Parts: sequence; C-alpha cells; structure tokens
Amino acid sequence: MEPRSPEEARILASWSKNVSAWTDAVRHSAIESRKLVTDRAIVDAILDAAPRSVLDIGCGEGWLVRQLAARDIQATGVDAIPALVEQARKAGGGDFQVVSYEDLAAGRFNRRFDLAVCNFALLGKESVEDLFGAIPRLLNPGGCFIVQTLHPVSACGDAAYVDGWREGSWNGFSADFTDPAPWYFRTLGSWVDLFRRHGFELRRMHEPLHPLTRKPASVIFVACNVRPQQTALSGQAPETGE
Ligand SMILES: C[S@@+](CC[C@H](N)C(=O)[O-])C[C@H]1O[C@@H](n2cnc3c(N)ncnc32)[C@H](O)[C@@H]1O
Repeated sequence: MEPRSPEEARILASWSKNVSAWTDAVRHSAIESRKLVTDRAIVDAILDAAPRSVLDIGCGEGWLVRQLAARDIQATGVDAIPALVEQARKAGGGDFQVVSYEDLAAGRFNRRFDLAVCNFALLGKESVEDLFGAIPRLLNPGGCFIVQTLHPVSACGDAAYVDGWREGSWNGFSADFTDPAPWYFRTLGSWVDLFRRHGFELRRMHEPLHPLTRKPASVIFVACNVRPQQTALSGQAPETGE
C-alpha cells in the first residue's frame, strides 16, 4: 500500500537510504541517550507487563526483539524496509518480517500478541493514526500497547508547541546519515488523545530522565485495549454479555 502523503513517502525513503548508518549506530551504541537511558527503559516497561509474545512494530535492525527473545519472550519484529529486516535476520534471535504500518492497517498481517511495542518508530501522521486503528486487532484480549517516543516538551525546541510536520535533521548523528525526513510533532495531550480515540486506556506514562541533563530523555506510554475486539471474520464486535 502506498504512503498517504509526500511526507510519509520521504520517511520511508530516508530509512531505505540509512540502513547501514542506522545499523552501525545501534550496534555500536553510538546514540548516547539510548545507551544511558531509553534502551533499558523500554525493556523494563515491557518486562513489567509480563507478556509471553510481543510484536515490535518498526523494529529496525532488530535489537529489541533480540533482547526480548533472550528473556524467553516470543518476539516478532516487523519493518517496512527490506534491507533493515535483512540486517535483523542476519543477526538472528527472532522472527522478522517486511510489513509496513500501511500493511498492518490494511489487515495484511493476521497474528495476535500479548503486547505490541513501537520504540522511537512513530514518525508520521496518517501512518501512525491508521496504525493505532489496527493495533486492537493485533492484540490478545487484555493486550497492551507500549510506545516510546521523543518527549514532546524536550523535542519541541523553539517552535510553537502545536501538532504539525517538522523538518528532520541528523544533528548529533554520524556524517554517514543522509536525507533526513520530516516528522510529525504531537503534543503530550495529542498523544494521550490518540490512545483514547482508538479505545486504549493509558495505564502508565513514564518519563525516563537523562542522568546528565536531568531532562526527560523520552516518554513511554503503556496502554491497554479496553474496547470490545473485532473478530477477524465478521469485522463485528463480539457480544460481551453486558
Ligand atoms: C528510529 S528507527 C527505530 C527502530 C527500532 N524500533 C529501534 O528501536 O532501533 C524507526 C523505524 O521505523 C520504521 N518505519 C518508519 N515508518 C514505517 C512504516 N510506515 N512502516 C513500517 N516501519 C516504518 C523505519 O524503517 C525504522 O526502522
């Protein structure tokens, strides 16, 4: 399925071009905030929910799936970029498939998990909204959805604190990165609304602190699906008996 806007298309094009640079950066712990805070924070948030199976959406080169598999969690990673999935498969330690958010939204992936996670992988507007609509169909009853993203207050910079597309940059990354993509900024309130609109109840919101700056390095939303789930065959909500 085609991306829904030129900005969404640029996000995918950028990741296609930066596969090697990204894989090197992650595997050599070149991103300080990940090394110091956010990697551990997302693993802990997942372990807290004690899932038996996890779908890592926008898995990149697969580090999180490997971390979970090492803890006996059945983990599957999906990503739109075939070369990233290839990198993930080469490193092993999990099941990796080329599946985009657009594919998930179109119902082209029919499996269910105890937990779905997106770690710094929700970058667009429509692709993210459509993905949120698809998550309940990917979860077992009572399943959780965990998202780690840039903290809107820290990431806002000098621009107005309002939702909208922002130009991207690879500032702080190595010179190997090229073609930064735009990304869609959401305020904290807009993230909370996004979960609510799609039938999720927010159970926790973590704000892991960077140990040196003492500013939030990210925000982690832990949400659970509370709306009756649609059945795969009928598209109808099952009877709840209430
Ligand atoms: C910042 S990387 C994060 C990768 C990984 N979650 C991690 O923690 O290292 C963003 C990832 O989102 C993926 N992505 C972006 N848009 C996507 C889409 N529409 N469908 C599937 N994957 C997408 C990219 O290919 C990339 O792997």
